[in-house]
Amino acid sequence: ARPVQRTAEQRRLARCLSVDDLERLARRRVPAAVWDYVHGGSDGELALARNRAAFDRVELRPTAFGQVPEPTVATTILGRTAAAPVILAPTGYTRLSHHTGERAVAAAAAAAGVPYALSTYATTSITDTARAAPGGRNWFQLYLMKDRAVSLAHLAEARQRGYEAIMLTINTTVTGMKRQDKRNGFAVPPQLTARTVAGMGRHPGWVANILTTEPLRFATFPEGSTYARWGMSNQLREQAIRPADITWLKQQWEGPVVVKGVQSVADAVEAVDAGADAIVLSNHGGRQLDRAPVPLELLPDVVPVVGDRAEVYVDSGVRSGGDIAAAIGLGARGVMVGRAYLYGLMVGGQRGVTATLDLLVDELRRAMCLLGTPDVDSIGPGHVRLRAS
Ligand code: FNR
Repeated sequence: ARPVQRTAEQRRLARCLSVDDLERLARRRVPAAVWDYVHGGSDGELALARNRAAFDRVELRPTAFGQVPEPTVATTILGRTAAAPVILAPTGYTRLSHHTGERAVAAAAAAAGVPYALSTYATTSITDTARAAPGGRNWFQLYLMKDRAVSLAHLAEARQRGYEAIMLTINTTVTGMKRQDKRNGFAVPPQLTARTVAGMGRHPGWVANILTTEPLRFATFPEGSTYARWGMSNQLREQAIRPADITWLKQQWEGPVVVKGVQSVADAVEAVDAGADAIVLSNHGGRQLDRAPVPLELLPDVVPVVGDRAEVYVDSGVRSGGDIAAAIGLGARGVMVGRAYLYGLMVGGQRGVTATLDLLVDELRRAMCLLGTPDVDSIGPGHVRLRAS
């Protein structure tokens, strides 16, 4: 038999036994300014730290003598089978993490059987992303624009390309202040500060890959338009999103509408009353309002109030299968992951995203064996306890 040749990328991935391992290797794969953009949080990074601390506080409590050898991690998300209770979160500028960008993420999600929400600030178009993931559960994350015609064009393209759901993000009416991004002159195309030039000089492979693929821009907007060029312009986005906008969206879009960035019980009720089929408790991974509530800790308050009318997902800080079990135990239907898959992407492109998903699923399955829960629905409040520290 011929020896199997493994690329450097594959060898690196094989060494990663956790998302934390992927994170450590990922840091070395990209220029510092890209790393800071993905890894960092807003202002004093209190929300970022608290998100993680909250997951660490959850104790998982096995059922004595209840252990099961082969639990199933498959579940349903929006009424359709998902291979695991996981959704890949929308992330802007994904091609900075790896030149294969959103195509690689969509293809990995499709292969793994989980949904992927493409960002309005994607660097690959709605159409090209769908083409990279035939048969995938593609969702489109909508940043509502003041000019509703622009948003309607997004919906039309998503509809034409078979997208399953629209995810409306409501907590980004202005972009959070990430100090390190400011210092780095972070923008697309990158502003040439001393730090970005030095950072790119250390990553010639990354630079070559970016330069030899399509130009970096907001690819969900028409080429050459203000929208494609203007970075994360606050002026163009709707800055006062109201429940009526959810109702409007329900009228414009035949399929499910998911509302992301819900951070209180009152907003959860308003979103669901206005027609949301699902909500995501999220503080944007600690990238928007610093000191925002920790989404994981909102679950026990929100789920009893709206859980019978809408699915409730949670994100911000998920890094392991144990974290997923914790979120489900506290009432989530599923979790979204952002940075975890971007780290995989940085290390190994599509294979890296697959590696992230494999790790999360393996860990969740092992946790379920040891917890004594044969399926996702059987993980309940009795399996979790919030420790004081
Ligand atoms: C994001 N997030 C995000 N959310 C959104 O609705 N639209 C977007 O364009 C982006 N862009 C974005 C870029 C990057 C680099 C990150 C890390 C995050 C937020 C994202 O969808 C999700 O809420 C968080 O990433 C969840 O937290 P974790 O998993 O990163 O801890």
